[in-house]
Amino acid sequence: MYEISFTLNGKSVTTRAHPLARFLDVLREEFGMTGVKEGCGEGECGACSVLKDGRIVNSCILSVGMIEGCSIETPEGISATEKGALISDGYAEAGAVQCGFCMTGMLVATEALLRENPDPDEWTIRTAISGNLCRCTGYALVVDGVQRAAERRAAGTQPARMQPGGQS
Ligand code: FES
Ligand code: FES
Repeated sequence: MYEISFTLNGKSVTTRAHPLARFLDVLREEFGMTGVKEGCGEGECGACSVLKDGRIVNSCILSVGMIEGCSIETPEGISATEKGALISDGYAEAGAVQCGFCMTGMLVATEALLRENPDPDEWTIRTAISGNLCRCTGYALVVDGVQRAAERRAAGTQPARMQPGGQS
């Protein structure tokens, strides 16, 4: 066992783990980050996506030893921000959430995209979410949701949960 320290959603944390332990398991079991899902477990579906130093990675194929000193953002951390909440609002307005299993990974991919390109065209959005598999939507509704999120972020709209009658 080794002590491995990193930043998780803005807070400094340390875990004692085997350096080859799957980062997905450490996030879910030790830190309660259950928004990080396990789908395929082999780097194909994107359900386990997180941001590592701002870049999207699949936590199921990452060992925790590779995280030392890194900044990690999970769906929980992203959706706690106003800009992140606007992604969820965009998805909701577009009707993009069906079974919902893929959506936390989609949220991470969308956040990574909109930080880099706040006004992406359809092709750019489809490319950005191409590592996130969705069995339900056919992707068109997700693309629409990302576009609506981008518009809300550009307009400085308040997240629905912060508006009168919204859930905090
Ligand atoms: S569970 Fe990690 S990519 Fe599918
Ligand atoms: S909404 Fe069901 S897998 Fe995407």
